[in-house]
Amino acid sequence: MRDKINALLAEVEQFPVGNKEQLEAFRIRFLGTKSILKDLFSGLKDVAPEDKKAVGGLINDLKNRAQEKFDAFNQQNETTESEVSGMDFTRPGESKKLGSIHPISLLTNKFTEIFKRLGFVVADGPEIEDDWHNFTALNTPEEHPARDMQDTFFIQQNPNILLRTQTSSGQVHYMENKKPPIRVISPGRVYRNEAISARAHCFFHQIEGLYVDEKVSFADLKQTLDFFAKEMYGEKTKIRLRPSFFPFTEPSAEMDVSCSICNGDGCNICKHSGWVEIGGCGMVDPNVLSNCGIDPEKYSGFAFGFGIERMTMMKYQVKDLRLFSENDVRFLEQFKAEI
Ligand code: DAH
Repeated sequence: MRDKINALLAEVEQFPVGNKEQLEAFRIRFLGTKSILKDLFSGLKDVAPEDKKAVGGLINDLKNRAQEKFDAFNQQNETTESEVSGMDFTRPGESKKLGSIHPISLLTNKFTEIFKRLGFVVADGPEIEDDWHNFTALNTPEEHPARDMQDTFFIQQNPNILLRTQTSSGQVHYMENKKPPIRVISPGRVYRNEAISARAHCFFHQIEGLYVDEKVSFADLKQTLDFFAKEMYGEKTKIRLRPSFFPFTEPSAEMDVSCSICNGDGCNICKHSGWVEIGGCGMVDPNVLSNCGIDPEKYSGFAFGFGIERMTMMKYQVKDLRLFSENDVRFLEQFKAEI
């Protein structure tokens, strides 16, 4: 028995295990369920009782040695495999660069979320408009002096087709297709032939709001705008409505929001006045309602149109409006934390 064990020990040492197949043959012969060592263990019962312990120990040593050799080569094989595949599974992963939402979109999303809670829906309007939707239906017929307020881009010398100068055109589209009660906001891009500076651009964004129903009053307008301003800029925010003129509203007002940067004390953003003007609003002129097929005797409504750039500049303390359209990643990256 001892000779047999020694011979097997020598075989374990010499057995070639250089490749996968040889290693598997080694495992089957010495470590598998039908291995030669199993036979040795079962042969133990024929060994003289006084010898049993010593011989048993020798077989165990043989088994351990075989296991050791197998483990060592098995590990080596694995490393070579990963080296061959060219992969290092221990390398730390590379993080993916995340983009960020554009500040104009961030503000539009916040605005929309606030008004959705008040039951408003969102509607789109076309950027290429005709004269009717951008001006005439909005109580601004040809030769009306209010047309001079907005320097219009016309398309191919056609005085009827233009780039919309205001999202108010969306009001007309909506009222032509839907009947009251109407509660809608419509964000989008508008165009005006203006010199580009830190405070003006030839294209910018507005968000239009329209509420038409029976007995809608100026108090509803004021309450809605006050709620919006506090939700957007914080509990302490105040609004101020200054009398103004727009052809499509009567009465009309300009809406100011107390500056959330300096809390009304005066800073660069509010030009030291404590107030930032964000747009116009008013009660929808009866002519506009009837132009869109809505009975002004039965229904009344309020409307507003705010500049998204203005609102964004105050929200995120941006001092130059041109930054919004330059696509400078250093600027855009600063909004990563916002959702
Ligand atoms: N469309 C106006 C502008 O671009 C803003 C405006 C004023 C919109 C009053 C309205 C409104 O809906 O009621 O200057």
